[in-house]
Amino acid sequence: MKTNFTTKTTQNEKLVSWVEKMANMCQPDEIHWCDGSKEENDALCALLVKKGTFIKLNEKKKPNSYLARSNPRDVARVEARTFICSEREIDAGPTNNWANPKEMKEKLTSLFTGSMRGRTMYVIPFSMGPLGSHISKIGVEITDSPYVVVNMAIMARTGQKVLDILGNGEFIPCMHSVGMPLVDGKEDVAWPCDPDNTYITHFPETREIWSFGSGYGGNALLGKKCLALRIATAQARDEGWLAEHMLIAGIESPEGEKTYIAAAFPSACGKTNLAMLIPPAHFKGWKVWTVGDDIAWIKPGKDGRLHAINPEAGFFGVAPGTSEKTNYNAVQACRANTIFTNVALTDDGDVWWEGLTDEKPAHLIDWKGNDWTPASETPAAHPNSRFTAPARQCPTIDPDWENPEGVPVSAFIFGGRLAHNTPLVYQSFSWSHGVYLAATMGSEKTAAAEGAGGIRRDPFAMLPFCGYNMADYWSHWLEMKRLVPYAPKIFRVNWFRKDDEGHFMWPGYGDNMRVIKWIVDRVHNRANAVEGPVGLMPTYEDIDLTGLNMSKEDFNALMSINTVEGQKDCDDVKNYFRPFVEQQKLPAEFVNELKLLSLRFERSDEEWRPL
Ligand code: GTP
Ligand code: SPV
Ligand code: MN
Repeated sequence: MKTNFTTKTTQNEKLVSWVEKMANMCQPDEIHWCDGSKEENDALCALLVKKGTFIKLNEKKKPNSYLARSNPRDVARVEARTFICSEREIDAGPTNNWANPKEMKEKLTSLFTGSMRGRTMYVIPFSMGPLGSHISKIGVEITDSPYVVVNMAIMARTGQKVLDILGNGEFIPCMHSVGMPLVDGKEDVAWPCDPDNTYITHFPETREIWSFGSGYGGNALLGKKCLALRIATAQARDEGWLAEHMLIAGIESPEGEKTYIAAAFPSACGKTNLAMLIPPAHFKGWKVWTVGDDIAWIKPGKDGRLHAINPEAGFFGVAPGTSEKTNYNAVQACRANTIFTNVALTDDGDVWWEGLTDEKPAHLIDWKGNDWTPASETPAAHPNSRFTAPARQCPTIDPDWENPEGVPVSAFIFGGRLAHNTPLVYQSFSWSHGVYLAATMGSEKTAAAEGAGGIRRDPFAMLPFCGYNMADYWSHWLEMKRLVPYAPKIFRVNWFRKDDEGHFMWPGYGDNMRVIKWIVDRVHNRANAVEGPVGLMPTYEDIDLTGLNMSKEDFNALMSINTVEGQKDCDDVKNYFRPFVEQQKLPAEFVNELKLLSLRFERSDEEWRPL
């Protein structure tokens, strides 16, 4: 085995011996310690072009950017193959796939043995959070995918600078293999993977991650969902903080007052869009600043408030639906130095996806590499196609986005994708009511995970990302209130309500600023609300609807609640809670919140509106 061990530049014995042990198991041809330099990145991109994984885009249109097309069977996170391997099954809880850690390790050991033959093993030291911040965590990912290396270089802080900070300290070991050894004369393919043997596994007690068989997104960029959410939730529970699937944004008023919000929406439900929102023209002097678009680590500060950091350094954003009109700042963020995966290629070497322009190009190469015209019946870009872009390229990136102390959060917002019976916005009556609202949130499944379609409960938008028992996570949220005297206010939103003809009833995107302004004003006690069965709600007069041409009737339709349907939902929540009740883990607060909600439905008109 050839190694460049001689050039390794760490004295961390635990790291060196772990890498050696993993190399002996995986049997790569070479070991490459990633230094994170530009030269290294250029060489890897050139290698990816040579291997056919990358197509270099037109240097004039998209400087230093590439297109990758995955295996059509490896296009999203695979929740069915994602496991939490805690000693006791109850600690993974009813919402996670559980596996016995010893048995899973045996299984993984057999899969990883020889899995990197004929390939190079890359060692990527990475920091989630700003380098050296007391909130940051260091991980080391071992992978046989150069695609993963160059994506990680955008999504996290990587390389020698991380090893320097790590010193002899602790790191989270993250093992990854695409699972396609080049043996018996096997030729490499553009996107190696093993969809029949995919395992995305987490060991929350020993803080380890092992991922096998997939090269895509959250399955393979292990700093993101695996470390910054599944492992971090377990650490956060133990250490008294929160690791959340949330965007972070600063809302600046014309007077220069800045109010930070953190919002949890399920995958592909609008976090990136809200994080980079541009207010409607008449909101003169209002500005939205971007701190993060996907993950927030939130800790109690000395000032009695919660402070949030974005552990990531890049955006892994949904491409379809992103345009200069819907998200100008995201389009700007991927103007250069960006990796596009599973979007379409234009004839002049640029990228395209559904929604990028009103007019479809006359000819494209689709995400599978086939000719495409507007007459084609399949989409040109995969619905879960993504861009990997450096956060610093976002025009609205917040001056404090890398502040190691984080930014103070004033409001938590939770929102699903629901076509029916869920109002545009409402505020919780209390912290525990807010935790209940987040825990019972429903949402339509999207293309961000395999097996999209249908409504499911997605508590805190964390269903696929909580590394321990979901009910313990709810209790942790309830307890956090004790640690922060000035806790954020909690809100629910829904941009996705549809009328009988199936049209969105709310314009969404930049117009969401109208709702955000009401939320900010509620935080500062200067906006009105009325008490409805589900929470505190604005009336027609309380929200700035200037220029929308929306009648009071239209607005009330957007805010209405059918309480008979609501009552049915209470029955459904009872069923949803049952497994947690059986494990004797359901927070007592929730029993009461459900009872009160049901009572409020009983005592309201059948069609409730904030008149
Ligand atoms: P993950 O990266 O998967 O966690 O998702 P995300 O929450 O960041 O999703 P993103 O912001 O990329 O949104 C995904 C899809 O939702 C895109 O197709 C958007 O066009 C659409 N979308 C975002 N905001 C709105 C909105 O206000 N209204 C409507 N109707 N669609 C929206
Ligand atoms: C999500 O699915 O919520 C994502 C994309 O943010 S991935 O990183 O692939 O999980
Ligand atoms: Mn996400």
